[in-house]
Amino acid sequence: MRSVTKDNITEVFLNYFGKDTDPRLMEVMSSLAHHMHAFVKETKLTHDEWNKGIELLEWAGNISDDERHEFVLLSDVLGVSSLVDMVNTVPGGTSSSVLGPFHIAGAPPIPLGHDMKRHYAGDVLLATGVIKDADGASIKGATIDIWQTAPNGLYSSQDAEQGTYSFHGIQTTGTDGRYAFTTVKPVSYTVPSDGPVGEILNATGRHPWRPSHLHFIVKADGFRTLVSEVFAADDPYLDQDTVFGVRDDLVMEYVEQPAGTFPTTGFELSGKVSGPWLKVDFDLTLTPVV
Ligand code: BEZ
Ligand code: FE
Repeated sequence: MRSVTKDNITEVFLNYFGKDTDPRLMEVMSSLAHHMHAFVKETKLTHDEWNKGIELLEWAGNISDDERHEFVLLSDVLGVSSLVDMVNTVPGGTSSSVLGPFHIAGAPPIPLGHDMKRHYAGDVLLATGVIKDADGASIKGATIDIWQTAPNGLYSSQDAEQGTYSFHGIQTTGTDGRYAFTTVKPVSYTVPSDGPVGEILNATGRHPWRPSHLHFIVKADGFRTLVSEVFAADDPYLDQDTVFGVRDDLVMEYVEQPAGTFPTTGFELSGKVSGPWLKVDFDLTLTPVV
């Protein structure tokens, strides 16, 4: 087609595909072109607006490195990461939720009963549950990779005061499928807002807060990997998570336990917690690989 018009440009674009293009790539790219072209026509996008968009993407590229993943963050605050999760969810298992940019590969193994809180101030939270299949049978040898912020709301990669794997660890379940560890009660925190994503949030009157949560990735042979989070039911940001990660089944009560009731054995902190403490009991259900 020589004469390209605003009415035929999408069709022209589709005709440019080589005949050996992977069919799925063709499907995805065709749909993307349809929606992007329609978006430009519908909004009558101006050159200034288009240039501003390009400028923000360039800024996102420049600010990104191994530890700062601005494009992930952009996808998160636009709701795209959560939508990708939701369209790929298989019913019957625990809901998945956003991975976010702060997971670190290679976290150390932690034994059952391990303490991640260490010297940090804040409430002791005992997190436990069973990793099971959709029929309720516990899964032995499943791994749960856990990470969260310190009480200052920063992940280890954002905070020079923390070691690389502070508040990160991987636990493996025994025959009863149980995981159990202590940590500090997670806090609400803001996603990085000093870059282009922050500018978008500001310009659209949005805040950068996430409700407090514990992240985890659960893996077991024969099961789909689960990337998710557990949220505290009393968090003020539950209904306005800036990255759209909250699902009903991921919201849990962190139940206050009276002083003197912390388990006397089985935990690194056994014998060391004299005051009240918190407990969250959260089973995780995996779906099979098909
Ligand atoms: C997080 O929970 O770590 C996170 C998720 C999305 C964007 C930024 C942070
Ligand atoms: Fe997080």
